[in-house]
Amino acid sequence: MEILVTGGAGYIGSHTCIALLEAGHSVVVVDDLRNSRAEIIEKVERITKKKIQFYLIDVTNEVAVNEVFSNHSFDGVIHFAGLKAVGESVNQPLDYYYNNIVSTMILAKVCKKYGVKKFVFSSSATVYGENKVPFIETMELLPTTNPYGETKVMSERILADLARIDESFSVVVLRYFNPVGAHTSGLIGELPNGIPNNLMPYIAQVADKELDNLKIYGNDYPTIDGTGVRDYIHIMDLAEGHVLAMEKVVEGANIYNLGTGIGTSVLQLIGAFEKATGLKIPYIYVKRRPGDIAECYANVNKAKEELNWVAKRSLIEMCRDTWRFQISQNKKSDL
Ligand code: NAD
Ligand code: UFG
Repeated sequence: MEILVTGGAGYIGSHTCIALLEAGHSVVVVDDLRNSRAEIIEKVERITKKKIQFYLIDVTNEVAVNEVFSNHSFDGVIHFAGLKAVGESVNQPLDYYYNNIVSTMILAKVCKKYGVKKFVFSSSATVYGENKVPFIETMELLPTTNPYGETKVMSERILADLARIDESFSVVVLRYFNPVGAHTSGLIGELPNGIPNNLMPYIAQVADKELDNLKIYGNDYPTIDGTGVRDYIHIMDLAEGHVLAMEKVVEGANIYNLGTGIGTSVLQLIGAFEKATGLKIPYIYVKRRPGDIAECYANVNKAKEELNWVAKRSLIEMCRDTWRFQISQNKKSDL
């Protein structure tokens, strides 16, 4: 299949390009590089020994998007391009609503115009709000605490409405839990700007002595050890879920959780990272981060039954691959 990957130079997009190319598909990437670099595309080409056609465009530019579609006969689109920082979305709501929703609407519109029948969308476990864990696809969505989460809920609804009026337009909404790790080559991984907001890249920078210690946001949650519980999933498992979604789903509106189904606390993740690397992660407790929930993990039965997809990589592999990428960034010795 020929697949358009928006945001393909970003963290999840670049790993998904690898999985798609390795599965024998051809890939076209559009990205305006607002949160990534062109060299990522070259690295994906090096890893896979395959070529990617790349267009430097903003996907909210309808004219430019039309032009890309007119040059190809896409079998499907995977839409990763978007803004994703929860805290930033509170202070810049308009940027988030505009970029994340307008991009989805333009891509869906242009898909319809060019007869592209399959649309895979990057959603997030954040849409479950404070439902009871494990989160399952049939749950009613509860309000999220930030504009970023609202853009995911709204985009899901727009796509579901489109699939409802045209059964031949198939929509796959993938709700990601907490993607972490990196490709085993150590060539690509997550590249946060400035001080990381997310736990795994923060731990990696503490391990690398770029940051002094980890601040654990709260040890008074009703969880196994008082720290927040999340469903961490290896980025390559997540990437492979997109390939199956693209290959297996043929009609209608479809929603799948992509997670492992296993909840891991902050302290448990620190323990796994220390075991995987032999390094000590110093930490202190600070107060809860506003907007955080106690526990977030998936029921993953639907993806298993319908896509034949399960996450295969362990927490230790997630930590080891994160660390390999971290040290390769600094051109330090290998593991
Ligand atoms: P990322 O920032 O690494 O990648 C997004 C890419 O999209 C970047 O390369 C950026 O330059 C590009 N982009 C953004 N707006 C664009 C526009 N208007 N036109 C063209 N390119 C544009 O983020 P990621 O972690 O790879 O996330 C990909 C998608 O998955 C996002 O939609 C995000 O909301 C969603 N998601 C991510 C996570 C996570 O933890 N990383 C969790 C749930 C959902
Ligand atoms: N945490 C710390 N210290 C840190 C960073 C995080 O203790 O420096 C804790 C958090 O309190 C939470 C856990 O580690 O309990 C995980 O936090 P992350 O920031 O790594 O991930 P979140 O689950 O908060 O958020 C992520 C994405 C969101 C997405 C959400 C649900 O960042 O975009 O998963 O999919 F919406």
